Parts: sequence; structure tokens; C-alpha cells
Amino acid sequence: MTVVGPFGLSVRDQALETDVQAGLAAVEAGLLEATKSEVPFITEAAQHLVRAGGKRFRPLLVMLASRFGDPYAPGIVPSAVVVELTHLATLYHDDVMDEADVRRGVESANARWGNSVAVLTGDFLFARASHILADLGPEAVRIQAEAFERLVTGQILETAGPRDGRDPVAHYLDVIAGKTGSLIAVSGRFGALMSGADESVVDILTQYGERLGTAFQLADDVLDIASDAHESGKTPGTDLREGIPTLPVLRLREMAAQGGDPADQELVSLLDGDLTDDARHAEVLTRLRAHPALERARRDTIQYAEDARATLAPLPECFAKSALEELCDAVVHRAG
Ligand code: IPE
Ligand code: IPE
Ligand code: MG
Ligand code: MG
Repeated sequence: MTVVGPFGLSVRDQALETDVQAGLAAVEAGLLEATKSEVPFITEAAQHLVRAGGKRFRPLLVMLASRFGDPYAPGIVPSAVVVELTHLATLYHDDVMDEADVRRGVESANARWGNSVAVLTGDFLFARASHILADLGPEAVRIQAEAFERLVTGQILETAGPRDGRDPVAHYLDVIAGKTGSLIAVSGRFGALMSGADESVVDILTQYGERLGTAFQLADDVLDIASDAHESGKTPGTDLREGIPTLPVLRLREMAAQGGDPADQELVSLLDGDLTDDARHAEVLTRLRAHPALERARRDTIQYAEDARATLAPLPECFAKSALEELCDAVVHRAG
């Protein structure tokens, strides 16, 4: 048994391990190539977060999904580069939106060079992703365009908040399926599609990615409260500071609305105050970490991961399927 990829996934097959490692190495080379510009400053800005690391979760998913067809098919590595480049671009933009100073354990691009450079570097990365996509054909371009539209819609809906009368949890679940589930679904889809797997397998891995991606974002939102900067490479409590209501907070509000503990009402009042105030922010973070709402959000996360795992049931038993099943646990129990 060997350990591969970002979550220390245990892979019990030598060929699978070797191929996945080789695929991820090729993606790394592809990312460096795709982020080179004639303008040295653009190369520096575009490679800033590539070189800072990151889990490469989406490329890993492409590689595992490709095992249901020909895993050496020529479209697999480029499509993995496309999803990681797209992800990377959204991180540059997201850190502007969320006013985040730290990403992947280093200064965010906006903290280092300002918002304009960060936004334009994100655009540059999208352009490079489109360039690679063009060679993968019109179907791949369409799939990516649709996912990108959903991703951006998710980010905008998060900013806009729920319309009047809409259940905030339902709104939140729409937001995260859009902003995160969409691209992770494309990762499963591209891996299967490019390998020439059957249409039914492509559909299963797309749906798996969508559910796993939702669980992935739920876990990210729990980690924003529960983890420390060392583990996540980001500043804890960023969602709180930015007033982005994530599931732990929404669950707390539900509990507080149902009456019960006066401490819950007090925490909600603190949350409704100015969380750019450092002392108040620290107080809310400490209380939320100990609150049952966080545990409730963790259970919700596990449920989505279990749904993702159940999607895989019709696939033939193989080492890749086991790895995809294990990924469901890894996403939920990750530390960063
Ligand atoms: C962060 O994604 C943004 C989310 C969609 C939660 P990742 O957790 O995959 O970030 P990196 O690529 O490892 O830095
Ligand atoms: C990131 O959402 C989603 C995208 C980048 C599309 P978040 O804002 O929750 O992610 P982090 O926590 O900054 O990585
Ligand atoms: Mg963010
Ligand atoms: Mg955000």
C-alpha cells in the first residue's frame, strides 16, 4: 500500500500509484508551462500561487476518474491542467472578493500587488486555460463554459444573499454547489470523458464530483472556523470577518431561533455586530469552535460525502473506485 496525492490516499495497486504520480507530475509541468508569459512580471504573478503549492485535489480527481477508460489517453493531463488553472484563477479573484491576505501559506496576490494585478492575473490564467481547452474540442469548451457560468453565479449569489423569503440554508447550498461543486464535477467528468469511458460512467463521475465538491466546500467552511492558519494556509475566521454566512453560522441561527439556550442568542448578537473588530471576532471564533452548531455542520458534511460515495455504487470494483471512496472520507476529515 502506498500513499498518493494531497490527502495521503492509500492506493493498493502499484500501477495505479505510478500512473497517478506520473500524471500529477505532468500536470505540474503543464501548469508551469501554461503560466509563462513574455512579460516577466506576469509570469511572477501567475506562478506565485502555483509555486506556493495547494492540494491539487482537482487534478487528482481527473486522474482517478480516467481509470474507467484508457488512462493514457492524450486529453487527460491537459484537461487536469485546465481545471487546476481555472481553480487557480478563481482563487486570485476570490481573495480580492474576500479581502484575504494569505493563500496557500503565502501572501495573497492582492495583498502583495493590489487588487488590479490580482484580478488581471486571474483573467490571464483563464485565458491560458481557454487556450488549452480549444485543443480538447468543442464539447470540452462547452462543459467548461457551463461550469464556469455556474461557478461565477455561485460567487455572485453568495455576495447578493438570499432573496426575500428564501430559506438561507437552501440558498447557501445552491451557492456552494455552484461556486465549488461545478468545477469538481467537471474534474470527474473530464477524467472519465477524456479516457473514453462509457457515457453512464461519465454521468456517475460527474454526479460524484458534484456531491464531493459540495462536501469539500462544507468542510472548507467548517475549517474556516475550526482550523489554524498553519494547517489551512489561510487566515481562520475569514468568512466571519467578511460576513459570509456559512453552514455553522446558519445552524447556530436556527438553534437560536428555536429558543433554548440564552447563550445562543448572545452569540447571535455578537455575530450581528462588527466582526472587523479584532476582539469581537476572536470571541465569536472561540465560542463557535465550542458550539454544537459546528458539530451539526460537520455531520451535514459527512452526509454529503456519504451521498457522493453512494453515487459510485454502480461502477465496477477496482482500485480506482476504492480510492474514490476513500476520497470521500479524506475530504471530510482533512485538516487543510
Ligand atoms: C479552496 O480550494 C477553495 C475552495 C473551493 C474551497 P482548495 O482547498 O482546493 O485549495 P488549494 O488548491 O488546495 O489551495
Ligand atoms: C472559494 O470559496 C470558491 C471559489 C474560489 C470559487 P471560499 O471563499 O469559501 O474559499 P476559501 O476559503 O477562500 O479558500
Ligand atoms: Mg475565500
Ligand atoms: Mg469566497
